[in-house]
Amino acid sequence: KASVKESMFAVSAFARDFFVKQLFKTDEGKSVGLSYFKERGFTNETIKKFELGYSPENWSALTDRAQKEKYQLDYLLSTGLTKKSGERTYDAFRGRVIFPIHSMSGRVLGFGGRILDQSKKTAKYLNSPESEIYHKSKILYGLYQAKQAIAKNDNCLLVEGYTDVIQFNQSGLKNVVSSSGTALTPDQIRLIKRLTSNITVLFDGDAAGQRASLRGVDLILEQDMNVKICSFPEGEDPDSFARKNTFEEVSDFLKNNAQDFIQYKASLLAKEAQNDPVKTSELTRDIVESIAKIPDPIKQELYIKSCADIMKVSEGILFSTLDQMLNRQS
Ligand code: CTP
Ligand code: MN
Ligand code: MN
Ligand code: MN
Ligand code: MN
Repeated sequence: KASVKESMFAVSAFARDFFVKQLFKTDEGKSVGLSYFKERGFTNETIKKFELGYSPENWSALTDRAQKEKYQLDYLLSTGLTKKSGERTYDAFRGRVIFPIHSMSGRVLGFGGRILDQSKKTAKYLNSPESEIYHKSKILYGLYQAKQAIAKNDNCLLVEGYTDVIQFNQSGLKNVVSSSGTALTPDQIRLIKRLTSNITVLFDGDAAGQRASLRGVDLILEQDMNVKICSFPEGEDPDSFARKNTFEEVSDFLKNNAQDFIQYKASLLAKEAQNDPVKTSELTRDIVESIAKIPDPIKQELYIKSCADIMKVSEGILFSTLDQMLNRQS
């Protein structure tokens, strides 16, 4: 079993090196991949730090080269680097720029690959499938590069995407990781908690997923961590915002806009309820549910008080709702 995993790690490291070489040393890689990263404002130093690469358009460049170097097809398939269609095999990430995904100690566990041409009728990002070495729910993109900065700043910035992590890191905000577009899991939160008990969640300014994403944030409260939320302006994400602004401007933006999670959620819900009593009662239960997740009773009490203010309901009703939820006498 151990040797299966070692073989998968080995072929993943080989693929990483192959993609890096393609990016810097081939005409196609330079003119398509490297120029794409340059257009996004990434420096050579950043590209090297994150081991970004390029997978050529050729159907089987990686699969062929790896097999020539004696890596077995089995492991190319089980890591998802190679796919099979009938008897034919082909490179899963062909024609994409590559974002390797590292373990906390810097081993390559998997890959994200982005298409270069928005118009292509295929997913913008392709990610490695679940495997013996790649467990999406236990990995945070960028943690390898961010771990020291997270401990030093005693805060972790959580963003939505790969390029948000990279652009923030390049701007000097290095305590940044991403759950890569999926809801945060308890295992991912535990990884962060080993380094800090403070998380700031940065949402893309596209509103769509925000209400839904708030659910995931409750999981952070359950682990007794402090959570702040910061939304970016409409149409911006951390990547685009950091490109247009200096380190000081981005830092100030975070300082001025990061809001305590419970207060953020209460304001959002108060706006949504619009003084409608049915909605207000529904949303009140929703916020009290979040507060019920906080293990510390002192924090719970303080939050009840500030939510009562924000949502214009009495503290008494919030306290008794909380007691009901926690199954205790008021
Ligand atoms: N994602 C994915 N598959 C998709 C779209 C998104 O896996 N088809 C994940 C990626 O990890 C992506 C993250 O969700 O980085 C956030 O998605 P989105 O905000 O749409 O992409 P960006 O990271 O902003 O990517 P870009 O700036 O390159 O368009
Ligand atoms: Mn495992
Ligand atoms: Mn988004
Ligand atoms: Mn985005
Ligand atoms: Mn983006």
